[in-house]
Amino acid sequence: MCGIIGYSGPKEPLPILISGLSRLEYRGYDSAGVALIDGDNLSIEKKEGKLSVLKEHLEGTSIKGNIGIGHTRWATHGVPSDVNAHPHADNANEFAIIHNGIIENYAELKDDLIQDDYSFISETDTEVVAVELSRKWNGELLDTVLDVAKSLDGTYALVVTSTKQPGTIVAGRMMSPLVLGVGEGEVFLASDSAAILEYTNKMIFLENGDFVEINDGNFTLYDIEKNVITRDIQVIDWEVSEAEKAGHDHFMYKEILEQAEVIERTIAGRIEENSTEIPIHLDKAKKFEKIWIVACGTAYHAGLFGKDLFEKVLGVPVSVELASEFRYREPIVGENDLGIVISQSGETMDTIAATELLKENGAHVLALVNVVGSSLARMADSVFYLHVGPEIGVASTKAYLGMLVGQLLLAKHWDSDDKLAVAFDEISDLPKLIEQTMACEKQIKDISEKIYKKNDIYFIGRGLDYALAAEGALKLKEISYLHAEALAAGELKHGTLALIEDGTPVIVTASQNHLLDKTTSNVQEVIARGAYVIAIGDNQSKKLENISDEYVTLPDSNEILTTVISIIPLQFIAYHVANLNGESIDQPRNLAKSVTVE
Ligand code: AGP
Ligand code: GLU
Repeated sequence: MCGIIGYSGPKEPLPILISGLSRLEYRGYDSAGVALIDGDNLSIEKKEGKLSVLKEHLEGTSIKGNIGIGHTRWATHGVPSDVNAHPHADNANEFAIIHNGIIENYAELKDDLIQDDYSFISETDTEVVAVELSRKWNGELLDTVLDVAKSLDGTYALVVTSTKQPGTIVAGRMMSPLVLGVGEGEVFLASDSAAILEYTNKMIFLENGDFVEINDGNFTLYDIEKNVITRDIQVIDWEVSEAEKAGHDHFMYKEILEQAEVIERTIAGRIEENSTEIPIHLDKAKKFEKIWIVACGTAYHAGLFGKDLFEKVLGVPVSVELASEFRYREPIVGENDLGIVISQSGETMDTIAATELLKENGAHVLALVNVVGSSLARMADSVFYLHVGPEIGVASTKAYLGMLVGQLLLAKHWDSDDKLAVAFDEISDLPKLIEQTMACEKQIKDISEKIYKKNDIYFIGRGLDYALAAEGALKLKEISYLHAEALAAGELKHGTLALIEDGTPVIVTASQNHLLDKTTSNVQEVIARGAYVIAIGDNQSKKLENISDEYVTLPDSNEILTTVISIIPLQFIAYHVANLNGESIDQPRNLAKSVTVE
C-alpha cells in the first residue's frame, strides 16, 4: 500500500516531498517520514500518525539536501510507530530506503544478518533491505541495489539513497506501482502520478523488474541484469485541480458532486455504433463461452451489476468472483472465456494475481480501470479506461459509477437484439440525470440525522438493486464504522428478518420496476417488525412510497439508468452519517486506497 515520493533536481526537496505526501496520504496514513541527503549527511525524520504530525515536527527542524525521498505508511510488518515508519536506514546510517510491498523472505534474511552481527531496531521487513544493502555494498549504488533485489522474494517498489554515493537515487519495482515524473532538469518518483502532477505531466510507468538510476535530475532505466532499457513517456491529461478538494471538506464529497461531469468523460466517444473507444466489439464478444468478472470490494459490487447485463445480451454464463478467493482456487477457465477485471487503481494485488490466472488459462482479459498506465491496464489484452479522473477518497464513489456506466456501455454495444431496452440517446442523458439526482442531498441529510446514532442498518433490493444495496452497505461501513448489511430482499425471511426490530433502519433500492411488487411485499415484512423504512425509487413506485417512512424520488428515466443513479443517495447517506458521527471520511481507520498487499 503506502505512498512513495522522491525528488532529484535543483529545487529544495522538502516542500516537494511534503506536498507529494499530502496527495499520497490516501494510500496509507499510519506514519510518515522523509530522508534528505546533503553531501555525506543523511537526515531522516519520521513520525507515527498522519502527515500533519510529521509536518508539525518538521517545523522545528531545518533539514536540507540535494535529493530527498518520502513515505506514508500502511503497516504490514510491525505496528504503526516512529521506529517502524519509513525511511529505514542501515546500522551505520549510510543508506536510506522507502518501500511499498512485502518482502516475503525477510525473516530468513534477518536471521542471516543477525548471524553476521547486524542489528535491527524496527519490526519491519523493509529495514532488512536497508541493512542488506550495507552488507552487500560493492562500491556502486545501482549494482548493489540490483544485487540485493535478486535476493528478495515478494513485492516492492523500493527507493534507495546513500551517503556512499551522494546525489544518486536508485529505485525499482516488482508488483508495487512506481511512476517516474520527467521534468526539465528534474526527476520525480511517486506511487501515483497525481502526487507529482503539479510539477510535470510526463510520466514513465515502471514495469515489474524495471530499475532506475537518477543523478542530478537525469535518469537511466535498467532491467535487473543492468541492461539499459527504454520505456515510453506518457503524457497525463488530468488537471492538478482534479486531485485537490476544490474547497470542500472532503475528497469523497467533492468526488460525489463531480460525478455528472466525470461520467460525461466516461461516455465520450462511446455512444456511437462501432466506436473505436469500445475495446471489444460484438462479433468478438459473441465468441466467448463464459465470462468471469473478477474484482475486489466496490469493484466487485460493480461486477454484480455487470453480470445481469452481460448474461442478458450475450446469453452466456457470467461468474462474478472475489479476486482474493478466485486466485486460490482452481476455476475452470477456458481459452474461449473472457475475463473482465475491474479496478479503480489498477494496482490491487489480488486482482492482479487473478488476472495472471485468467491469462495463464488462455482467457482474453479485458480490464476496466481508471488509472492510466496502471499494472492491470498493462497486463490486460484489452483496456476500457473509466476516465473519471483521480479518486482520492478511500471510499470509492465516482469510480464505482464509472464502472457501472462502463459495463453498461459494453453491454449496449454487445446488445444486438436490444435486450437491454435502452437507447444510446438515453445513455447520453446520464450526466443530466446524475445532476438532477444530486437534488436529493438535502433530504438525505435530514434522513441521516435520524439514523446516524443507530448501530445496525440494513440495505435490501432485488436483482440489480441488490448489487447496489451491497455497495451502499459497504460505503456506510467503511467510513461511518456502523454495522451495515446488504441482503437480496427475498432472502430476509430466511434468517436476517430475526434482527429487525422497532426502529431498525432498512434502506430499500427499488429501481427495478418489474420487481416492484415483490420488493414491496418484502418491505411490508420489515414494516410488520417495526423497521424504519427509507426507500429510493422513481415516480412509478407509489405503493412503496405510501408505505415507507421516507421516500427518495429519483428523476424518471429508463429502468436501467434509474438503477445507476440510485447509488447517489446511498453515497450521500454514507457521507452524511459519517460526517455527523465526526469520522475522518477520506482516510477511514485500518484502510488504504490502494490495496497492493494480499
Ligand atoms: C471502496 O470504497 C473500497 N475502498 C475498496 O473496496 C476498493 O473498491 C477495493 O479495494 C478495490 O480497489 P480497486 O478498485 O482499486 O481495485
Ligand atoms: N512492508 C512495509 C511495512 O510494513 C511496507 C508496507 C507498505 O507498503 O506500506 O512497513
